[in-house]
Amino acid sequence: SQAWKLHKTVVMVGMMGAGKTAVGRALAARLGVPFLDSDAEIESAANMTIPEIFARDGEPFFRKKESQVIRRLLDEERGILSTGGGAFLSAENRRMISERGVAVWLRADLNVLWNRVRHKDTRPLLRTPDPHATLRALYEARVPVYAEADLTVDSDSETTIERMVDRVLAA
Ligand code: S3P
Repeated sequence: SQAWKLHKTVVMVGMMGAGKTAVGRALAARLGVPFLDSDAEIESAANMTIPEIFARDGEPFFRKKESQVIRRLLDEERGILSTGGGAFLSAENRRMISERGVAVWLRADLNVLWNRVRHKDTRPLLRTPDPHATLRALYEARVPVYAEADLTVDSDSETTIERMVDRVLAA
């Protein structure tokens, strides 16, 4: 397989459970380009998990780190960059991403997202008395912002990761 030379970093955006990390990693492997992951970078720099960072330092601190990491990753090399679900909500992040990248929204229905996140304990924003209602509120607030991405790729419960890679490449 041929290694691609990207002119821009392909930035995966969308809700928790959309498959940003899984699809981003598979896309990078398919293209033979670096895979970058802002959440993983934040965790390894802090030597803490995301829930630990939220609990100890709070969400505003996490968002500051997230912007710094996204800026650094966009500066350092081109590849496939998976971001956390909240990253694209920041106007500053959207501006950085549009300067150096192409934003791809992985769109999925709320029930698909819920089925993917409901049994996991890795999303501090869903540690509420009614996580389904919280996810729905985030979804409704965020969809109009994700819609500003350059490309939209749909995912449903039947779609495999490799099929999602095909769809991103087609888009
Ligand atoms: C967040 C999503 C998470 C992580 C953090 C906040 C969000 O990433 O960045 O928990 O605001 O939606 P994933 O989208 O990979 O779950």
